[in-house]
Amino acid sequence: MPHYSAAVAHLTDWSSAVRARRRLGHTIEVHETIGSTNDRARELLIESGVDGGVVIAEEQSAGRGRRGRTWLSPPGVNLMLSVALQPAVLARDAWQLGLATALATRAACVASIEGSALGLKWPNDLVTSDGRKVAGLLLETEVTGERLSAAVLGIGINVNWRRGEMPPDIATDATSLAELAGAEVDRVALLDRLLDALDDEVTHIEQGRSPLRRYRAACVTIGQEVTVHAAGETIVGRAVDIDDVGSLVLETATSRVALATGEVAFVRTGLQE
Ligand code: BTN
Repeated sequence: MPHYSAAVAHLTDWSSAVRARRRLGHTIEVHETIGSTNDRARELLIESGVDGGVVIAEEQSAGRGRRGRTWLSPPGVNLMLSVALQPAVLARDAWQLGLATALATRAACVASIEGSALGLKWPNDLVTSDGRKVAGLLLETEVTGERLSAAVLGIGINVNWRRGEMPPDIATDATSLAELAGAEVDRVALLDRLLDALDDEVTHIEQGRSPLRRYRAACVTIGQEVTVHAAGETIVGRAVDIDDVGSLVLETATSRVALATGEVAFVRTGLQE
């Protein structure tokens, strides 16, 4: 049964993004303020085992980013959501979920800003042609034996946050869909498109269809000279590929290394549509 719950009546009405027949977003829980939507989605998985439930917040008091960072967003202008999933995916294929979520986010955002190119910075940041970040993903998974028993796909998109209103340290490296579109972007329609795209991506993975080829085509890190912070080390080199398990392949002055996780600190993008 489709389900929509919002704790406060004056919130944006997200109910048109609820789709009874779609696995992702057949139920949407909206919070005016919450600690982190990822934590709430995890709770839902534990409490009710809901598969495909979505949690949205207008504001997070403890929004988390990758690598222990904070995710900042003013209330009511952006899209912050987490999807609670029980995917039929082997633990060894968990990396595909990150790539697929990034591709779905890109597809949904591109449709909001006709004419602007957006690419994926490894592992899963959505960036503009001049390298400004528009969206980030935080995936948290639980493994039981050889299977992924649960996954939380956390997505934060800068939608209607104007650069002039961002703190200076964020404005230096970030932008928003509204800046790129030159107009306000409909957050409910964006959510609906995102859940459609993500629903397809998850189904593909469960059917054994890897997102890797499409991810490589969208990844702007490949071909760039980069500095990567990984496992307490800083590695400088040329990004040459994403390998068959989603790792970034770097050619350094002395060797070829594959990094399963890390932070690309610097990329000179040359994005082409
Ligand atoms: C990153 O780029 O470092 C990842 C940012 C992920 C932010 C989203 S907002 C919704 C969800 N809840 C969180 O606490 N984090 C993710």
